[in-house]
Amino acid sequence: MTRSLLYEGKAKKVYQTDQSNELILSYKNDATAFNGKKKEVFDGKGRFNNLISSHVFHYLAEHDIPSHFIKKLNDTEQLVKKTTIIPLEVVVRNRATGSIVKRLGFEENRPFHPPLIEFFYKEDALDDPIINDQHALLLTDATDKELEQIKAYALRVNDVLMNLFDSIGVTLVDFKLEFGRDLLGQIVLADEISPDTCRLWDKETDAKLDKDVFRQGTGDLLTVYDTILKRLEAIK
Ligand code: C5P
Repeated sequence: MTRSLLYEGKAKKVYQTDQSNELILSYKNDATAFNGKKKEVFDGKGRFNNLISSHVFHYLAEHDIPSHFIKKLNDTEQLVKKTTIIPLEVVVRNRATGSIVKRLGFEENRPFHPPLIEFFYKEDALDDPIINDQHALLLTDATDKELEQIKAYALRVNDVLMNLFDSIGVTLVDFKLEFGRDLLGQIVLADEISPDTCRLWDKETDAKLDKDVFRQGTGDLLTVYDTILKRLEAIK
């Protein structure tokens, strides 16, 4: 398969394949936090992100959630449908932690029933600010109906993934999703779902099994990503 580099982001490279509607996502070993201000390379990280995200997207497909994911190609790469990314980070929160505690003073760990959805504008130069629905309509070309569809998908993903992670002894605390439009104009889930983009806490010990160990310097990233991958592989 011939390929040409389309885009290089903080964590992934995106290649155009010889099929116009298919891209390769190649996961890098770079970990970044605080919009790239903290950075470190971990040999083997790209493999963990690719294998975990492939597992999660495969599971979502089995639960009828449309996404860009086609298949895992090898340890660090996956084949995806070409989409036009809508520049929104869609965060779903089941408990208060992270930025919402700093921003709004919620008590740490406070549960959200129903889960809380927040939109952030995906724009590095602005540090991805939180926005409301009206901002989202003005800043992106998504329609009202599409924003509602995105929120409905985000809640369905939450339901499905809470069950998946629960079955491996992990609480899904919060996570970030991105959506794109495929070549038919349909909204589909895109990007990755991994310990880079989710907060995953061990149900028994509350140990953090996600990128917070790197953000906060409280643990070994590769060890906790390996824990998540091994537990997912054990239920296959
Ligand atoms: O930092 P904050 O509390 O807003 O993060 C909420 C969730 O979104 C966390 O699971 C975090 O890993 C994820 N996130 C992300 N990419 C960002 C910001 C947050 O994956 N740029």
